[in-house]
Amino acid sequence: MTIRKVGVLGCGLMGSGIAQVCAQSGIDTVVLEAAPEILEKGLGRIRSFLQGGVDRGKLSAPDRDATLARLRGTTDLAALADRDLVIEAVVEDLKTKRDLFAKLDAVCGPETIFASNTSSLSITEIMTATKRRDRFVGLHFFNPVPLMKLVEVVRTFTTAEAVHDGACAFVQALGKTPIRTKDATGFIVNRLLVPYILDAIRALEEGVGTIRDIDEGMKLGCGHPMGPLTLLDFVGLDTTLSIAEIMFEEFRERRFAPPPLLKRMVLSGYHGKKSGKGFYDWSAEPPRANDYLVGGGGR
Ligand code: CAA
Ligand code: NAD
Repeated sequence: MTIRKVGVLGCGLMGSGIAQVCAQSGIDTVVLEAAPEILEKGLGRIRSFLQGGVDRGKLSAPDRDATLARLRGTTDLAALADRDLVIEAVVEDLKTKRDLFAKLDAVCGPETIFASNTSSLSITEIMTATKRRDRFVGLHFFNPVPLMKLVEVVRTFTTAEAVHDGACAFVQALGKTPIRTKDATGFIVNRLLVPYILDAIRALEEGVGTIRDIDEGMKLGCGHPMGPLTLLDFVGLDTTLSIAEIMFEEFRERRFAPPPLLKRMVLSGYHGKKSGKGFYDWSAEPPRANDYLVGGGGR
């Protein structure tokens, strides 16, 4: 199974990272967005990450340019017709993903492999919007994609063995480490990670510690690279809320239930770092903890 041409659906936080690492690995890459201005924002994120690599001496200027030359943005689904593999990274919403895959199924040839980067939805439920039951996998990348080494490779009951193996080989060709898992909600990592980050919000709600102290606690006490509330701002609070709702619906266990503070923050436009504010105010340097989110309501 040779993957020379990849399509990526969505050029948000994850789609832009996935498109970048594919193009950096020498693969001809097309990335689809819903609207030109969102596409331009995502491509800008890729350009600035690559430039950051040049500034840090991690990437040569010719390699940056060659990567960008292998990458094309589009808003037209037909541009994905000739792809060997299409990786979906649009919003964490079942209907959006199913609708897009149903349309793509009619656009791509029968050999094209489809993959979803979903965090918490069932791969099987997304797959049934298409006719390619043996050629559908989960490829779950981690944020920030260019720096994180892991990809979970998820199979359903009907995924062909050769497709699962080929997907693992593709992940290795990207310079990442695949781990194999089955289609169980949250797979391996989010099953363990999501209760932890939601518990950090509950600890904050219950006044166990301040935003900074909860983050410092897990950084210095457990050696985590960033505290859970900073991590939530990186993942995106809107995405985390969708993940929690989906996982709670599946398991009906309190540990997956979205905390009220998370819901109110998302409704108020606090989507984390990508929106400029979440548990921290990212417009300040260094970022300032938004301590007014809890307590008596005063600022
Ligand atoms: N280009 C090339 N290299 C770059 C770069 C760039 N633009 N920016 C940074 N780097 C390199 C740095 O040079 C550095 O390299 P060395 O280790 O060789 O020195 C490395 O990347 C780390 O960069 P920084 O020192 O700037 O940053 P850091 O040490 O704080 O690490 C981090 C950043 C990797 C994001 C780290 O903080 C981390 O691992 N955080 C946790 C992230 C995490 O848990 N992600 C998972 C989220 S959950 C998920 O994704 C699943 C889901 O479904 C929600
Ligand atoms: P995001 O909100 O940053 O990006 C989603 C993008 O999808 C947006 O730019 C949106 O315009 C685009 N989109 C929506 N509908 C579309 C359509 N019909 N056609 C083309 N583009 C469309 O979200 P994200 O954080 O990149 O998450 C994307 C997926 O990756 C989700 O399934 C999420 O669960 C998963 N994921 C997220 C993380 C994370 O840390 N944020 C980590 C792993 C997996």
